[in-house]
Amino acid sequence: MQIKRILRPAITHKMTSDSQQTGTFFAEYISLFLSGNKAARCLANDLADCGVGLMPLVDHCTLRTLDVDKRAEALFPLGFSQDQTLGVLEFDNWWAKVYRKPGYPTLFVDQAFEGKRGEPSLIPDWVHAHGDQCFHHIAILVEDIEYAIDKMKTRGIEFRGQIVGDPNTDLRQIFTQPEIKKSKAFTVLELIERHNGYQGFLPPQADGLMESSRL
Ligand SMILES: [Fe+2]
Repeated sequence: MQIKRILRPAITHKMTSDSQQTGTFFAEYISLFLSGNKAARCLANDLADCGVGLMPLVDHCTLRTLDVDKRAEALFPLGFSQDQTLGVLEFDNWWAKVYRKPGYPTLFVDQAFEGKRGEPSLIPDWVHAHGDQCFHHIAILVEDIEYAIDKMKTRGIEFRGQIVGDPNTDLRQIFTQPEIKKSKAFTVLELIERHNGYQGFLPPQADGLMESSRL
């Protein structure tokens, strides 16, 4: 499927250089993501057709890496800073930090724990196969996740596992079936439904979501 519109940062005389770089970063990373993810291409094309575009609906993008702090060094010059309120998010066998820049999608960066605790994690194998210079997933905000799933299924998009998060709670998420590259799981598209201004990433849910991307 062809991508109808390549995302491109707008250039204005008012734009500061870190904002130009941030625009370029998202344009390149999301174009790369779309080229390898059919579900995201389908959605991007539909949103282009109705004139909305994909970017305003991107809640967060996830980078998998072997070293969160080292990977984050490239994000600071773009104007991102770590969300200190959330701190370090710890899960069963992996952990994450969240980086934010007002006006742009949040960046969620994760790695496996060192040693035995991290051994069952999916993340190191994924990074060895695909590197840490591309998004593992982007999350698209939806108003009603069940409705979004039904509509996307009619377009041939398949989902993995169940919705994580109970009805009427502040955060509900689901991953699509992973793309396969080099015979290994590659990218997924996430649908995310948020309420009551909740901007966090509830740890018990994120473990379930992570496991749904295991082949
Ligand atoms: Fe996510």
